[in-house]
Amino acid sequence: SVIFTIDKQFAMTGINRSFINRYNSDEIIGMNAFELIQEDEQTRVKEIIDRVFSDKQAESFTVRSSEVDPGRFYTVQAVPFIRNSAAEGLTLIATDITDKILAEERLKETNQRLHALAAHLQTIREEERTMISREIHDQLGQELTALKMDIAFLSRQIDKVKLSGKPDWNELQDGLKSMSDITDQTINSVRRIARELRPDVLDKLGLKDAIEWQAEEFTKRTGIDCIVSISQSELNFKHELENTVFRIVQESLTNVARHSGASRSKVGLSVNGSSIYLTIEDNGRGITPEEIDNAKSLGLVGIKERAYSVNGKLTINGQKDKGTILKIIIPIEQ
Ligand SMILES: Nc1ncnc2c1ncn2[C@@H]1O[C@H](COP(=O)(O)OP(=O)(O)O)[C@@H](O)[C@H]1O
Ligand SMILES: [Mg+2]
Repeated sequence: SVIFTIDKQFAMTGINRSFINRYNSDEIIGMNAFELIQEDEQTRVKEIIDRVFSDKQAESFTVRSSEVDPGRFYTVQAVPFIRNSAAEGLTLIATDITDKILAEERLKETNQRLHALAAHLQTIREEERTMISREIHDQLGQELTALKMDIAFLSRQIDKVKLSGKPDWNELQDGLKSMSDITDQTINSVRRIARELRPDVLDKLGLKDAIEWQAEEFTKRTGIDCIVSISQSELNFKHELENTVFRIVQESLTNVARHSGASRSKVGLSVNGSSIYLTIEDNGRGITPEEIDNAKSLGLVGIKERAYSVNGKLTINGQKDKGTILKIIIPIEQ
């Protein structure tokens, strides 16, 4: 601990060796003790010190240090020494608690991020439900309705045959052919919806092909060009790492589709030494600094969390009407 003594005018009268080491000086004798702490804390601390002098009772408090020793936090114990039943001076014992305070702040931030993320997961779940219900309603609903109409048509044909005794084989065959076609379409729709719900492309294709597949799907859906540039012909990372990279690409492309207004986009992936370099860029309107820092931007929060979970370094950069670029560097050795 740093220990020093002050008189009634708050002038420093003595210091210990830790004090000399920390402040790199012993010319402090005579200096006003308040110069050691932040200006906006001086009133509060002065009240406490005054009270210790008048009540002759030790007290402790926390302060931020001044520019003499910037950015540090201390708990200080102020102990009066008494002569002729009056406090003549104080001994102040200051313990550096900066690391503890910073750790607490980090913990608080992490907690806030976790809360935001939990809420985000809930939103995603809702969005997915909406997507599933829309797909089922629009796609399967429509195809099954068409099938039902064909069945009704065939049923009417059969009624006619019953009356006339003369079946029109061509019409019956056309009806069946149409039903068979619609059934094929429906099967494809079911496959597509299932695939979108749980993309197993990554397991099936591997990271490189999965990204290329994702980019093609993206272009098909949005009409936005997407160039994929992957330096290695084979990529083989741990599953968690591949999943993280793939999800970040997916989320970023979703943002390009939703927000950028871009006509072209690019996904780049390269391995250099022991790191993966991933970039996703577009030539759209450009994300703003406010949008990047918005704690409610949960898609981005998700991307940050994913990058963080594999010790990745993420930077996002937007240039007005030039585009947005997201860069992530991830160490391969986890
Ligand atoms: N590629 C981009 N181009 C322009 N703006 C973007 C881009 N990506 C994200 N943004 C902006 O950043 C915001 C936050 O993105 P995100 O966290 O994914 O939230 P969401 O997509 O749900 O709106 C978006 O609402 C949008 O305004
Ligand atoms: Mg988003």
